Amino acid sequence: MNFQFGMNFTINTFMNDIYKPIIGRFVFNSEILKKEIDELIKNRAEERTLPFKNGRSIYDPNGLLSIASESDLNDTTRYYINENQERVPIIGKFKTYHVFNLTYLPEEPESLIDIYKKDDPKKTIFWHKYKKPFIWRTELLLTELKKSVEQLPFDYIQCVRLIFMSPPSIGQIHVDSHYISNIKYFKEGFASISFNIDHGEGILNYLDRKGVQHSVDNNVKIFHFDDSAPHGVTPIKKNRYQLRIWGKLSIPYEEIFA
Ligand SMILES: [Fe+2]
Repeated sequence: MNFQFGMNFTINTFMNDIYKPIIGRFVFNSEILKKEIDELIKNRAEERTLPFKNGRSIYDPNGLLSIASESDLNDTTRYYINENQERVPIIGKFKTYHVFNLTYLPEEPESLIDIYKKDDPKKTIFWHKYKKPFIWRTELLLTELKKSVEQLPFDYIQCVRLIFMSPPSIGQIHVDSHYISNIKYFKEGFASISFNIDHGEGILNYLDRKGVQHSVDNNVKIFHFDDSAPHGVTPIKKNRYQLRIWGKLSIPYEEIFA
């Protein structure tokens, strides 16, 4: 079944799903992965704060997505852009995401931490621009993470990104990429697969294309996620560990959901 989209663009229905569980076929051991991640992120993971304007995330100016009270959202570490186009950080009672890339592109040193070049006005996602393998970071001990990722049916792996939160934290509302380029990427046989290693009692909420809010099912361990949809995480109660994996599949994406 296909879904007719504007711009002479026909997409499979699953590609129009922002979130879709991947059931049964793949497994990982959360406890072992968490131990490995705890060692990895010591003094390494960087906090990614998000831009605010008029008391709200710029990615949700109308306050459509509910993840926390207005006052808690405004008490989360964030930044504003002042009239000189400078970042003005504001430290809140709540922290937000700490991120860490486990793979990178040698020709783009910024790919060690970021998803696009800081000075790129188009914010072109590295794995959309470079349709080629990324390299595992050899200075890190990644035995179990590597093993868990490499069970997936990839021809090659691109970005593998750890998203970590420790309490008190709120996952501020944002989008990572653009809808059209994500759909193009999926149509070309690439995937965005998430490992829910530990949800930390936070819930990933997102808005669908019609602006309706949904929640990810915390019981689901592995899922597809289209990060062009506005999303955020409710306040966590314990450490939250998520892994996002992008790469070129060796099988049609549809088959992974079967
Ligand atoms: Fe995100």
